[in-house]
Amino acid sequence: DWTPDSFVEETVEAIQEKVGNDKVVLGLSGGVDSTVAAVLLNKAIGKNLYCIFVNNGLLRKNEFQSVLDQYEGMGLNVKGVDASQRFLDALAGIEDPEKKRKAIGNAFIEVFDDEAHKLEDVKWLAQGTIYPDVIESVSATGGPSATIKSHHNVGGLPDFMKLNIVEPLRAIFKDEVRRVGATLGIDPELLGRHPFPGPGLGIRILGDITAEKVRILQEVDAIFINGLKEWNLYDNVWQAGAMLLPVNSVGVMGDERTYEKCVALRAVESTDGMTADWVNLPYEFLQKTSNDIINKVKGVNRVVYDISSKPPATIEWE
Ligand code: XMP
Repeated sequence: DWTPDSFVEETVEAIQEKVGNDKVVLGLSGGVDSTVAAVLLNKAIGKNLYCIFVNNGLLRKNEFQSVLDQYEGMGLNVKGVDASQRFLDALAGIEDPEKKRKAIGNAFIEVFDDEAHKLEDVKWLAQGTIYPDVIESVSATGGPSATIKSHHNVGGLPDFMKLNIVEPLRAIFKDEVRRVGATLGIDPELLGRHPFPGPGLGIRILGDITAEKVRILQEVDAIFINGLKEWNLYDNVWQAGAMLLPVNSVGVMGDERTYEKCVALRAVESTDGMTADWVNLPYEFLQKTSNDIINKVKGVNRVVYDISSKPPATIEWE
């Protein structure tokens, strides 16, 4: 029978056997999967694990610093690299969703590679790949994401890195990853975090990406997500986020006519992200959230709620 304890015991041994005294590098994302992978590896090989946490400038509000502090508090050997400007530069003027993903993926590989080269004698690259990532990436028919969106979690490794791969979570599902994380003593709040895509807010800003749009969306997202937590709705939702639309609409503010941005809120129920239903959030919550966003976030005068299921609508809008 599968239990998180036996999984941890067997996986720690398997990692030790596989990598021996070699150094391993791992990219932390702030998400559940890479965090659990890091803590498992840390348990197996301690200081031979070198974690890199890149700020791509497309994370949630304050997330880079707070997550970095949390990683340090967990005793991980982690280096935070703020590469926000590099990503913004790489994205300048790009509107096409897949081109954005490629630009973000390539910038990540460059930054990560620069950092990995600063470490000497690293032989392994560890990744928090989980079973659904494996299926979505290799299956020919796959889920819609496999063919429609280029997830860059699997593969895409430049040859020149020449590292061997270690993926301790490759055979398990998200709920099992969370149970393993709990057994390892990881903060339940971190383990309960909603999934967040690697390209981050970059695929939630429709159209081209600018620092100002990122700032607006970070504010909107923080109001929405903090509201879900305050109303005890967060844990009933599988994933939630806001999209900044490339649309201006007319509004009135006092005596003034406004012509400002519109945001869409999305909250879904799902088990693995392959299919999803929109969540029937209480109207009172939606009303309060909409008022807060419009009153507090300069540049936004309209909020809509996405009531589309997947399929056919994907969870992300890009
Ligand atoms: P979709 O939008 O395809 O998303 O319904 C399904 C799940 O995958 C996440 N997602 C991504 N994750 N890189 C990632 O690491 C990506 O390019 C990407 N695109 C979508 C999405 O947030 C949802 O959890």
